[in-house]
Amino acid sequence: MNHRHIIITGGAKGIGLGCVEAFVRGGCRVTILDIDESGPRLGERLGKQVHFIYCDVAQEQMVSDALSEAIARFGEVEVLINNAGIQRYSTVTETTEEEWDLVMNVNLKSAFFCAKHAIPSMQRRGGGIVINISSVQAFVSQEKVAPYTTSKTAMLGLTRSIAIDYAPQIRCVAICPGTVDTPMLRNAIALSPDPAEVYNECVDMHLLKKIGVPSDIGELAYFLAGENAGFFTGQAIRVDGGLGIRVDGSKRS
Ligand SMILES: NC(=O)c1ccc[n+]([C@@H]2O[C@H](COP(=O)([O-])OP(=O)(O)OC[C@H]3O[C@@H](n4cnc5c(N)ncnc54)[C@H](O)[C@@H]3O)[C@@H](O)[C@H]2O)c1
Repeated sequence: MNHRHIIITGGAKGIGLGCVEAFVRGGCRVTILDIDESGPRLGERLGKQVHFIYCDVAQEQMVSDALSEAIARFGEVEVLINNAGIQRYSTVTETTEEEWDLVMNVNLKSAFFCAKHAIPSMQRRGGGIVINISSVQAFVSQEKVAPYTTSKTAMLGLTRSIAIDYAPQIRCVAICPGTVDTPMLRNAIALSPDPAEVYNECVDMHLLKKIGVPSDIGELAYFLAGENAGFFTGQAIRVDGGLGIRVDGSKRS
């Protein structure tokens, strides 16, 4: 995939950074759209093929301006990875309208904005792929994640729509990770009185008795973006260590 231009939202940390590193290893030019203050230093660490643009992807004008800047620097876009996301913990009755809108805007509306402004560039170059980072929470869920799980489930609808509307030129797939060791996870378990116990519970709920690392997702995204994955579109691909496939109580002693 030498010299191809990849846009990765939320690429300064966690899963997004795992994707950035996978595509840089593959010789791609990567534009990161993020609001994290560590972003500008990433170029120094990863080399000239990485360009950071400060962009709140929940704001359409910032996305539109960032895409113009990215295309002027690295050329037309071949791959868009909609990865930026936030987690909030609340039930429907506890969630304020502001929290609901924030989660929906950052996790879902941002993917719509980025796709809307990247797809015309993919069309000009003759094709491309949109990869949406959803979650296993599009299929199985837990307590107090009402806005998050809703946003991640809706991403699968967006994935199908893009796949249908722009085939055969443009493919669109969703990746649904299980628990991955990132700042998001560490911040979440730090809210508990016993973070070590919560971490061990996370490990235990995966059939493979481990949680993922960002490169697990980055390498899958790299594969899906490549020609060897040219028959994948419209699907949600779970990379989750077997989380949620076993029926409770089915284990024989
Ligand atoms: N970590 C997990 O266990 C896990 C599991 C399933 C899905 N996911 C999803 O993967 C994605 C990445 O998660 P992570 O764990 O790496 O999170 P993280 O919090 O570690 O990193 C998220 C990145 O997104 C950026 N970001 C947040 N809001 C933004 C905005 N408005 N505009 C631009 N950038 C913004 C942050 O600055 C950060 O760099 C998210 O969509 C998340 O929902 C994570």
